[in-house]
Amino acid sequence: MIYQIYPRSFQDSDADGVGDLAGIELRLDYLAGLGIDAIWLSPIYPSPMADFGYDVADFCGIDAMFGDLAGFDRLLAAVHNRGLRLLLDFVPNHSSDQHPWFVESRGSRDNPKRDWYIWRDPAPDGGPPNNWISDFGGSSWEWDETTGQYYLHAFLASQPDLNWRKPELREAMVTVLRFWLDRGVDGFRIDVLWHIIKAEGLPDNPINTHWTPDCTQRDRLVQVYSTDQPEAHAISAEFRALADRYGDRVLIGEICLPNDRHARWYGTPDRLQVHLPFNFQLIENAWDAASLRRMIAAYEASLPAFGWPNWVIGSHDAPRIAARIGETQARVAAMLLLTLRGTPTMYQGDEIGIGEVKISPDRVRDPQDLRQPGLGIGRDRSRTPIPWNASAYAGFSTVEPWLPLNEDWRERNFEIQDRDSNSLLSLYRSLLALRRSHDALAIGDFKLVDAAEDVLAYQRRHAGECLLIALNLSDAMRTLMLPTDTCVEEVLASTLPPSTWALRPLDAALAPNEGLLLRLKEKH
Ligand code: NOJ
Ligand code: MG
Repeated sequence: MIYQIYPRSFQDSDADGVGDLAGIELRLDYLAGLGIDAIWLSPIYPSPMADFGYDVADFCGIDAMFGDLAGFDRLLAAVHNRGLRLLLDFVPNHSSDQHPWFVESRGSRDNPKRDWYIWRDPAPDGGPPNNWISDFGGSSWEWDETTGQYYLHAFLASQPDLNWRKPELREAMVTVLRFWLDRGVDGFRIDVLWHIIKAEGLPDNPINTHWTPDCTQRDRLVQVYSTDQPEAHAISAEFRALADRYGDRVLIGEICLPNDRHARWYGTPDRLQVHLPFNFQLIENAWDAASLRRMIAAYEASLPAFGWPNWVIGSHDAPRIAARIGETQARVAAMLLLTLRGTPTMYQGDEIGIGEVKISPDRVRDPQDLRQPGLGIGRDRSRTPIPWNASAYAGFSTVEPWLPLNEDWRERNFEIQDRDSNSLLSLYRSLLALRRSHDALAIGDFKLVDAAEDVLAYQRRHAGECLLIALNLSDAMRTLMLPTDTCVEEVLASTLPPSTWALRPLDAALAPNEGLLLRLKEKH
């Protein structure tokens, strides 16, 4: 299990209202006790914070807001001492416009770093060089008065895209990876990996004929030439070769593509790419049993034989799972995430079921939301500080935090859920413990099986053990269908409290909104 920490909102230790590395260190016992394997930290590098750290001004440093390199080394050692791994967020597609490389690059047309970024003359009409649209809205091109050219940015104008066709830039970025690998980090989550290189000649992207005004501006075009280029796969293979030279390191690629193109990011057995191309389909898919079943089958079928699956259920970019499907189903979602085949990734705060957090207009900080208001795409609602207890500012900080807390923080916090054996937190903990004690969950085969309407059911098998997971996505009672010639040997977990189990035959029925994890045995 990979646990994503959004450092700004995890734990503040120096009373500035923003989380930091020393804060994370204070909470490591909690994370170890939860039963996770690895922590992925969203960016902690020096940054003007225009995109809250995804605008990096120095790839080899730590922002003073978060700490310093010595503090990072301490955190890394503390993580390793607890038997956990630490992954950093590597942001190769762009830097901040404050990065010294860009400052040089924009200095003059003949600066040696000019081509470390993507500069072009205006189109004949004086406008941008092509029709590309930034993921945060508006043209992907920014005019630079001083040198009379446009530069490309897939995100904010203050996040200029790096030019991966320039060998010197590539070498400099490999040096960055080595810097952290040599320090002992266990791997990277690689930001927007499928964006990293653009088609030669930068042709216009085709118009998306399905676009409607409730879509983002980016979706007006299909990103055919600005993403997923063959050369990007070659770079991904180079990253992997480097990671493999260090041994026992993991690379996760942020890749948003349909299954067939997504699976290519694993590479081939003789030219591997990332270990885990992040799979966001639990976030994107409708929450109903039939379509989840189809999605899971299609994803499993798309994987190369050597490809290990993975599942992501929340992030600092996506709406909170409990906000999307409700509190009771969030428990079912936890069981789904932790019993599917593959590495699960969860996002801080989802284990206590933080739901919808209303951000008043004066507190909106997300640049994507500020640039395209009214679409409901704001990311601040998933980035609110973690409520640890019922003391002032929820134990996150001793001052007003940078974003508001979830309104129900006095009742919904870690301390309360830690004490309650029926809480979502306790459910996460026990499911994670089961993943460790049952190889069938960790590495077993996976097979979807027949189930009643609104029920998603599958088996996990390993070395003679057979587990059945049956998830009732409806709020009505449903029949539990057991495979022929089997009966229930043991109830390993239910998303409902054990006190309710007596109310129904556990081997025949699923209560409303119930997920069951059962060990089966053959009938004799
Ligand atoms: C993906 C990150 O998850 C998101 O938060 C960021 O804004 C963009 N990449 C740009 O780096
Ligand atoms: Mg702080």
